[in-house]
Amino acid sequence: MENLVQDLTILNENNAENCETVKTTPDQNTGKGRKLYIESYGCQMNFADSEIVASILNKEGFDTTSDIAQADVVFLNTCSIREKAEQTVRNRLTHINGLKKQKPELLVGVLGCMAERLKSKFLEEEKIVDLVAGPDAYRDLPQLINQVDDGEKAINTFLSREETYADITPVRLNSNGVIAFISIMRGCDNMCTFCVVPFTRGRERSRDPQSIVAEAQDLFNKGFREVTLLGQNVDSYKWSAEENNKAWLEKKGITNTVTFANLLEMVAQVSPELRIRFSTSHPKDITDDVLHTMAKYENICKYIHLPVQSGNSRILDMMNRGYTREWYLDKIKSIRHILGESCGISSDMITGFCSETEEEHQETLSLMDEVQYDFAYMFFYSERPGTLAEKKFKDDIDEETKKRRLNEIIQKQTAHSLQRNKLDVGKIHQVLVEGFSKRSEEYLQGRNTANKVVVFPKENFSKGQYVHVLVTDCTGATLLGKAVH
Ligand code: SAH
Ligand code: SF4
Ligand code: F3S
Repeated sequence: MENLVQDLTILNENNAENCETVKTTPDQNTGKGRKLYIESYGCQMNFADSEIVASILNKEGFDTTSDIAQADVVFLNTCSIREKAEQTVRNRLTHINGLKKQKPELLVGVLGCMAERLKSKFLEEEKIVDLVAGPDAYRDLPQLINQVDDGEKAINTFLSREETYADITPVRLNSNGVIAFISIMRGCDNMCTFCVVPFTRGRERSRDPQSIVAEAQDLFNKGFREVTLLGQNVDSYKWSAEENNKAWLEKKGITNTVTFANLLEMVAQVSPELRIRFSTSHPKDITDDVLHTMAKYENICKYIHLPVQSGNSRILDMMNRGYTREWYLDKIKSIRHILGESCGISSDMITGFCSETEEEHQETLSLMDEVQYDFAYMFFYSERPGTLAEKKFKDDIDEETKKRRLNEIIQKQTAHSLQRNKLDVGKIHQVLVEGFSKRSEEYLQGRNTANKVVVFPKENFSKGQYVHVLVTDCTGATLLGKAVH
């Protein structure tokens, strides 16, 4: 057991799902035509977009492949959030350049946020790139590919105020058949000063709730048992009843605007057997209505990702986050009050933002002590071209200090994760099985409602089942236990 515990710790620490990870496309073989290979970087929204891209190109006769060597078309769906994310893509392009030398007809395209940020500069800077498409231009991909086939470079980085790809059924890539992601909105209107997303993803727009509920229902019918509703700020989801779905909304008791709380409720009603998660919540916008809806439905998971970024109000103001330390801590109190102490809470944090003093950094540490996060994604500040912070403030904290502060918050979080997990030991948790544990096929793994990974001996259980597991041991990253019958 001890070995398993250690290995699991390492695996989970390497498996930060939020950022700069990469997924490739699975194999489809209809023998219809050209083969598409997509590598995705960045956040879940980018991963979800790759599924839209695969769907659009499937209709054009493309099969997906997980083997880049088999591909006729290679797409990198890129992220710009930190400099490192962009560097990773540049390095990948260098590697792909080698492949293209052996196969000159290989079409290389860059999609996503870095494509949007760099636009035609990409074509100038990276000679290997044939096609550049921003996040709102994916319907144009067949046409852009034709253009490359005709011997031209192709680019579309037009940002839309309306596009939500609502009518496109995503092709589930790398799916375990149990959990899936549903985009409920696109873009972001918040203008946090450090953030490139408003520039790469454009204005915020919400997707038609009827199409969201239909997608959740379709997933459930296909055997999926968990959906995560995705948006940069899900709490500002807003849909005004329109002629085309007025009657549908009235049947659900909504005559005016659909809020995120309303949407959550509609998706929760698809089936009590379908779990609902969502990401990301914004501290300035999350409402008690959302918390009460979560409390009302057993199948809405008791887990909230509520990025704080900093524990100091002056820095939060400079970041244009729209809340103070006190406001944030009040929100945490409401969560604990309405959803209980065991509700999972996680965060994102940035160290070394412009002019951050040692005392202000200490306030991030003390906020962490107060909140006791279950988990956190932690970064040091990386100045992004074009952002408000780049224009207004000096990136004046040296890298050594940024990294030292980052290490301090990581150390604290590691201790808190372990403490929080220890509170789960001795309790029975409902786990939705997602598949074999990464370490051994004798064990299964899934998550409890609070989003914690639970590993237990497989017995006769299988993927997609809900299992009650008595947790007997834990690491900072994983709960370990045994099914109770
Ligand atoms: N919409 C989400 C965040 C999306 S980006 C929210 O508002 O919380 C994911 C995380 O990346 C952010 O929460 C932030 O912690 C981090 N991040 C964004 N820009 C960054 C930058 N310039 N440098 C370092 N980290 C950054
Ligand atoms: Fe970026 Fe802020 Fe929008 Fe999140 S809410 S995507 S951090 S601008
Ligand atoms: Fe990266 Fe764009 Fe997501 S910048 S984090 S891929 S929205």
